[in-house]
Amino acid sequence: MTTIIKNGTIVTADLTYKADVRIENGVITEIGQGLKGGTELDATGAYVMPGGIDPHTHLEMPFMGTYSADDFESGTRAALSGGTTMVVDFVLPGQGQGLMDAAQMWHNKSGRASCDYSYHMAVTWWGEKVWEDMAASVKAGMTSFKHFMAYKGALMVNDDELFQSFRRVGDLGGLAMVHAENGDVVAELTAKLIAEGNVGPEAHAYSRPPQVEGEATNRAIMIADMAGVPLYVVHTSCEEAHEAIRRARQAGKRVWGEPLIQHLTLDESEYFHPDWDHAARRVMSPPFRNKQHQDSLWAGLQSGSLSCVATDHCAFTTEQKRFGLGNFAKIPNGTGGLEDRMPMLWTHGVATGRLTPNEFVAVTSTNIAKILNMYPKKGAVLVGADADLVVWDPEKEKTITASAQQSAIDYNVFEGQKVKGLPRYTMTRGHVAINDGKVETREGHGKFVAREARPAVNRALSQWKDLTAPRPVARTGIPATGV
Ligand code: URP
Ligand code: ZN
Ligand code: ZN
Ligand code: ZN
Repeated sequence: MTTIIKNGTIVTADLTYKADVRIENGVITEIGQGLKGGTELDATGAYVMPGGIDPHTHLEMPFMGTYSADDFESGTRAALSGGTTMVVDFVLPGQGQGLMDAAQMWHNKSGRASCDYSYHMAVTWWGEKVWEDMAASVKAGMTSFKHFMAYKGALMVNDDELFQSFRRVGDLGGLAMVHAENGDVVAELTAKLIAEGNVGPEAHAYSRPPQVEGEATNRAIMIADMAGVPLYVVHTSCEEAHEAIRRARQAGKRVWGEPLIQHLTLDESEYFHPDWDHAARRVMSPPFRNKQHQDSLWAGLQSGSLSCVATDHCAFTTEQKRFGLGNFAKIPNGTGGLEDRMPMLWTHGVATGRLTPNEFVAVTSTNIAKILNMYPKKGAVLVGADADLVVWDPEKEKTITASAQQSAIDYNVFEGQKVKGLPRYTMTRGHVAINDGKVETREGHGKFVAREARPAVNRALSQWKDLTAPRPVARTGIPATGV
C-alpha cells in the first residue's frame, strides 16, 4: 500500500520544489529527499501537482427532455484521463421534489464513480419544504446551493425567491451560486427569433447576448450583498459579467467567478459553421463569445478577479442534439470537456505564458478546494492530504479526437486541437488510475466528500453583517404621547 513518487518537481499553488512523495493508504505521509520503499513511480522531468478538481459537472442529469450522456463511470474515467481527480456535480431536484430525495437519487448514480466527488444542491423551486431541506442538505455535507436565473418555466427562480434562498444559505453558513442570465429577456428574445425564422443553432447565441449575463450577474451580486452571503458565479463567459465580479471584489464583496475552458478557448464563430451538427454540438448556456470576451476571461485568471476554471461537463450525443432540428430552443444545452480541461488550460495558459504553473494549480484545484471548504484534504500536496495527485508531463503531446476519448459521446468540441502537457500518472487516493497512457480506473473507488459549513469567509461576513446591521436609534427627549 506504499507508493513513492520519485524525482519530480512538486508544484502547488504557491511553491515549486524538488522532492519525493510517500503515499500510504491513500494519503500523503511524507515529502522529502531520497525517499525509498514500496512501488516507485518515476516523475523525472515532470511536475507533481494536486489533481484537478472540476467544480461544475452534470453527470447523468435529466435536462431538456433527456439525460446527459456521461454518467459517473464514463465521466470520472474521462476526468482521471485528463488529470482531474475530483468532480463536484449538481443535484437537481425536480419541481416539488425534496432536496434530500434528489440527493438520494444522485447517491444511487454516483456509486460507479472512479474518483472522489461532492455535490452542490440546486434550488429549482421555492417553498417551505425547500427551506427546511436546506438545513438537512448542509448537515449532509452539501453546503453550496445553485440558483438558475435562466431556463424560464423550468428551473428559473425569481428575485424574491433568490433573496429568501440566499438569506437561508447565509444563515446556514453555506455558499450561494448562480447561473446568471436574465431568463425573462432570453425567453422573449428566443420567441422573437423563432417567429422571424431564426431557428438554427446560431440563433442560440443571438438569444443570450453578453448583456443578459452581465445584468443577471450584477443583480445576483446585489441580492447576495443584501442577504449577507458569499456568492459563486458559475460559467462566467463575458466581460460584462466579469466586470461585475471584478467591481464587487474591489468593493470587498465575497464573490468568485468561474470561467469554463470552453469559453477560454472556443469562440462564437463555431455557431456559424455550415454543418448543423457542428454548431448544435456546441450549444450551451451561456454561449461561446468573441475574442474580446476571451481576453477578458484570461486577464481575470491572471489578475485573480476570476478564480476557478471548470467544464460544466454536460455532454449530449449528436442524436440528442438533433432534438432541436428546426428549433434551436430544443437543442439540449451543454458540452463536454472533463478530459480536456487540464491539457487545454496548460497548452493555452501555461505554454503561452499567460499563467504560471502555480497559477494553473490554483485555478484548476486549490482555489475551489478552499472556496468549498475541503482544503487541504483536497487541492494540496501536504502530509495528511488525500493522495489525489497528477504527475504532469509538460512534454507529452496528443491531438484531441473523439475516437480516442473516454466520454460516451460521439464527438469532441476540441476535435483536432493539439495539446502539449498531459498526465503521466493520475492518482486517486493513492490508486494509480492513469498509468502512462493506460486507463486503470476502478469503478466504485470514488467516495463522496461531505463538506462542512461556515468556513472562515462566512464567519467573517456574518460578523461584519452583525456589526453593520440596522439598529433603532435610542433617542432622548421623546415628546409625551397622547397629548
Ligand atoms: O448549457 C449548459 N450550461 N448546460 C448545463 C446546465 C447549466 O446551465 O449549467
Ligand atoms: Zn448553468
Ligand atoms: Zn452547469
Ligand atoms: Zn481503491
